[in-house]
Amino acid sequence: MPVGPGHGGVRGHDGTVPAATAIVSEDPTAPGGPSSLRPGVTHSKNEWHSPKVPGDGNPDTVDEAAPYTPHMEPISLTTERLLLRPFVPSDVTALQAACQDPDISRYTNVPSPYTLEHARTFIEERCVDGWRDDSVYAFGLFSREDGRLVGSMALVRLQLPGPERQAELGYWTAKEARGRGYTVEAAREVIRWAFEDLGIERMEWYAEAGNEGSRAVALKVGFRMEGTMRAKIPYAGTRRDAWVGALLPSDLGLPTPAPYLPYPERG
Ligand SMILES: CC(C)(COP(=O)(O)OP(=O)(O)OC[C@H]1O[C@@H](n2cnc3c(N)ncnc32)[C@H](O)[C@@H]1OP(=O)(O)O)[C@@H](O)C(=O)NCCC(=O)NCCS
Repeated sequence: MPVGPGHGGVRGHDGTVPAATAIVSEDPTAPGGPSSLRPGVTHSKNEWHSPKVPGDGNPDTVDEAAPYTPHMEPISLTTERLLLRPFVPSDVTALQAACQDPDISRYTNVPSPYTLEHARTFIEERCVDGWRDDSVYAFGLFSREDGRLVGSMALVRLQLPGPERQAELGYWTAKEARGRGYTVEAAREVIRWAFEDLGIERMEWYAEAGNEGSRAVALKVGFRMEGTMRAKIPYAGTRRDAWVGALLPSDLGLPTPAPYLPYPERG
């Protein structure tokens, strides 16, 4: 759900852009591991830039006791109709205008009223910090036709690298751009990137129970609903339920380094 100053994740999930809780214990050079998590492997696009390799400086040698910190350089992605790119300071006005929509502040952690200062802080501090410390990778969605801001999408609560390899997908779309499939189009590309290039092995989605629009997007891109979390979201002095869903690479026919062994349901 959230996506706002805190553009990503469900409001009340924590209320702000969350911090990553990466646990580092797995050898990222292990055979079959995602190449983008392997130090020393380079890619033509969507790569981990300048991974810091602890130890002796040899990119083929990893000191498993030391933290492995990829420090992602912001990247851009494209779809048929959209450019997904990091926000830049000149987007402040468009971002502030889009976030005046009450549905965005109702269902995300975007503050209300939303000021130019909120937009500036989000773009110049939170987004920058999120890419730098690998906790949140946020994109502005822009029309390739006319460059206008269509929405915002982010991987939040990132847990990279290490065996956790999970993230949450958060999004909002500007009121005037809704109902045209932009959110689904962007989500498919962000998910592809997350699974294929980042090595994410579980993508989560949360929304306040009753947010049918958000759930419709999640279902359309393949998320499976996993249930309702009671009293998960603090809202206006109350606590609300949250819907939770997840999408696995195997749901899309993609392999993962760590095979998923589902519990065999009985009865
Ligand atoms: C939820 C939201 C992102 C949907 O954006 P959108 O651009 O309209 O979504 P898309 O156009 O990609 O629509 C995808 C599908 O969802 C459906 N859908 C969208 N809004 C819907 C709604 N309110 N109720 C039911 N279905 C809805 C569309 O009909 C479409 O399905 P279809 O192709 O079978 O017709 C947008 O309404 C929004 O920003 N809401 C406020 C912020 C928010 O709730 N963010 C999510 C927080 S968890």
